[in-house]
Amino acid sequence: MNIHVASRPARSRPENAHDAFAADVIAGLTRQPKQLPPKYFYDETGSRLFEEITRLPEYYPTRTELGMLRDHGQEIARIMPPDAALIEFGAGATTKVRLLLAQCRIGAYVPVDISGAFLNGQATALRADFPDLAVHPVVADFTAPFNLPRAVQNLPKVGFFPGSTIGNFEPQEASAFLRGAREILGTGSTLIVGVDLEKDEHVLRAAYNDAAGITAKFNLNLLERINHELDGHFELSTFTHRAIYNRERHRIEMHLISRKAQTVRVMERSIAFRAGESIHTESSYKYSVERFQALARDAGWTPRETWIDPDGLFSVQALLAKE
Ligand code: AVI
Repeated sequence: MNIHVASRPARSRPENAHDAFAADVIAGLTRQPKQLPPKYFYDETGSRLFEEITRLPEYYPTRTELGMLRDHGQEIARIMPPDAALIEFGAGATTKVRLLLAQCRIGAYVPVDISGAFLNGQATALRADFPDLAVHPVVADFTAPFNLPRAVQNLPKVGFFPGSTIGNFEPQEASAFLRGAREILGTGSTLIVGVDLEKDEHVLRAAYNDAAGITAKFNLNLLERINHELDGHFELSTFTHRAIYNRERHRIEMHLISRKAQTVRVMERSIAFRAGESIHTESSYKYSVERFQALARDAGWTPRETWIDPDGLFSVQALLAKE
């Protein structure tokens, strides 16, 4: 295993997305402490705000990972079997995979995403830009088992999970994802994961408390979404965004804090808030290379290569599914 130090919401939705959202919101707001799943950030407005976040000067992960995929694409290409099927978990905007496709000899690309409309749009654009590439989109919740298309079943497999989305999973969820990915990709496969690293707390706090207030809007949009989709009555001005670093748990936590004691109606329920009470909306875990590798080993993967940017902010880790 080599370490190269150079010289990001699983989204899952059962059958009825609206009912699942409603059930999760009521469960989350009636438990103590209050908590909402971060996967619900990504409605249209939330996805647009997240794109804005990725371009903020304080938000280093996206920029850093893109730079690494650009700079180390050739090395990544060397560990990929020729003509492998590249399976991307949560296909996103395909900006990152395009860097790999441009530098690696890929046999087929399998983007996996819960949103069929979004996925098909991305697939069409990719086919236009890479006319020789076979693109086989799969509409699925990638945190649960799914079948790969028959066309790629006999190809060597490389999984791709960039963006440190794995950091938004609780450690036991991250472990379950890694186990599931091994099951889907099979023995002999490779998994390339983007993992945000532990670092100076000032850098972390700034990344989630940007001066332009975009992360605050992104966080508060969750209440807006509850208002629109679930007949909620949150007054957004009575909640404030807070992001703190929890050193013991190695994670940034995002919270929405009630500025006053109040009762909010959501779907004919009355939800009481104390002044200063929080709704915990997201955890973003930060790993050391060693802690992530221990998690990966425990889930059946053998660390193969790790790339780290020159400032030590972010890692791209290649894992191997040995016999
Ligand atoms: C998608 N995910 C990796 C982002 C992160 O950094 O945890 C989501 C995010 N939350 C606030 N800013 C960005």
